[in-house]
Amino acid sequence: MAATPTPSRDSAAAALADRLRTIVGDANVLDDPDTKAAFETDWTGRFRGPCSLVVRPRTTAEVAAVMAACASEGRSVVIQGGNTGLVGGGVPAPSPPEPSADPQASAPPVLLSTVRLDQIGDVDRAASQITVGAGVSLGRLQAAAEASGLVFPVDLAARDSATVGGMIATNAGGLHVLRYGSMRAQVIGVEAVLADGTVVSRLSGLVKDNTGYDLSQLLVGSEGTLAVITAARVRLVAAVPERVVALIGLRSTASALDALDAVRRGAEGLQAAEIFYREGLDLVRHHAHLGDPLTAEWPVYLLVECAGRVDPSDSLFEVLVQLDLPDDATAIATDGAGADRLWAYRERHTEAVSAVGIPHKLDVTLPQSRLADFESAVRELVGTVAPGSTLILFGHIGDGNLHVNVVGPPPDDERLDEAVLALVASMDGSISAEHGIGRAKSQWLHLSRSPSELAVMRAVKSAVDPTGRLNPGVLFET
Ligand code: FAD
Ligand code: MLT
Ligand code: ZN
Repeated sequence: MAATPTPSRDSAAAALADRLRTIVGDANVLDDPDTKAAFETDWTGRFRGPCSLVVRPRTTAEVAAVMAACASEGRSVVIQGGNTGLVGGGVPAPSPPEPSADPQASAPPVLLSTVRLDQIGDVDRAASQITVGAGVSLGRLQAAAEASGLVFPVDLAARDSATVGGMIATNAGGLHVLRYGSMRAQVIGVEAVLADGTVVSRLSGLVKDNTGYDLSQLLVGSEGTLAVITAARVRLVAAVPERVVALIGLRSTASALDALDAVRRGAEGLQAAEIFYREGLDLVRHHAHLGDPLTAEWPVYLLVECAGRVDPSDSLFEVLVQLDLPDDATAIATDGAGADRLWAYRERHTEAVSAVGIPHKLDVTLPQSRLADFESAVRELVGTVAPGSTLILFGHIGDGNLHVNVVGPPPDDERLDEAVLALVASMDGSISAEHGIGRAKSQWLHLSRSPSELAVMRAVKSAVDPTGRLNPGVLFET
């Protein structure tokens, strides 16, 4: 049952709001229900929960003062960047906690939005690095790098909204992991604010720095449970302007893996290898009003992208010839517009799935050798546990990462989630490849982490956030 606000809670909330206004200015404390609503629901629409107010600091000093104020009032804080996360980690828990003796402890959390931490530093050309605020979007970071003839190596379809802080907090993967690694590999150092307002900063850009625990890397993948990341120093890489993309129609996941193996061995500069299936392609075509990319229909599609300073096309063509594919099984693009056209069939899966209904999104990795078996097993499982539902599979086949999307079961029915994640664990996979655990999977973390690992993780959480006020219910069940 929802808690009835008590007068003491109301007056304490008003006092906190006033205090926060003096820190960030009136315009950046949002407590109007309509304005708050957009922050209280996640991108998928599956996860939502109330916050008492939204606060939008602009500087690290403001974040520190906000956190100190919330600490002194015993308030929980939920951290939100671009709100493109897909596991409910950036939105509050579904309902207000039950009333307790301490009205502040049971009050809805403060939601700290990082989007105004949007400062972009100069590119350090000598080091190929840049320091950016946590609220800078991926797209702005990519543009800043490109203006200096460099590239930020991580890319994903939510680039216009996803923030650097959110991507670090989730250790985002994306489209180029097989070449450059995930977000973790790009982070040289971070600046962050702890739950009590303490600032820790490691932005000097030293690539070699063996002076004890790597606190920056500890925050990568911490999903907002340890600190608010306020800025980051990240690496940039040399531009690879010559690009070729091939979309290949195939009969099975096993043949896609064989084709990928040939491309890995034979083609220069492989930087993306993605998979999707006919039913997902049909959904995207319908949603985005696109034609068929190939002249024939195929059950499975493999998209590969190679890039280099020297044109990698010939090496990819040679592999395609060796694969002896029928003429109606390939489309190739060597120019930017053509490449973007082929990529749209893959990148637009997320929005096309959401257009059908609120999806259960299960982002998993399997050992490469078990991916084909998993594909058949998960189809059978979904047919049994959620008959009549729509199953759309796609993902980053180069990393063994499949996105299992199911539309049909009600959002709060978790039987399917549990069954799929148990299947993944039984096949030596991980229940989260790149989206994180968030609220969506916290009850199943034990499927991928041993009791001793969980004990160490909980000890770290207690040491850094002793009162458990940062993102309660995310990563660990409360
Ligand atoms: P939010 O959604 O706001 O937050 C995500 C988590 O990070 C929450 O737990 C939040 O509390 C925490 N957090 C946010 N900012 C901070 C901060 N400054 N300090 C501490 N904690 C913080 N993900 C992939 O990995 N690969 C993909 O290919 C990919 N493609 C996507 C495509 C689409 C269309 C969409 C909608 C999402 C996609 N995602 C993908 C998921 C999402 O974009 C990433 O998880 C991204 O890293 C989230 O960034 P955000 O700023 O939106 O974070
Ligand atoms: C993707 O690879 O497109 C993303 O991770 C988003 C999703 O899983 O829907
Ligand atoms: Zn993905």
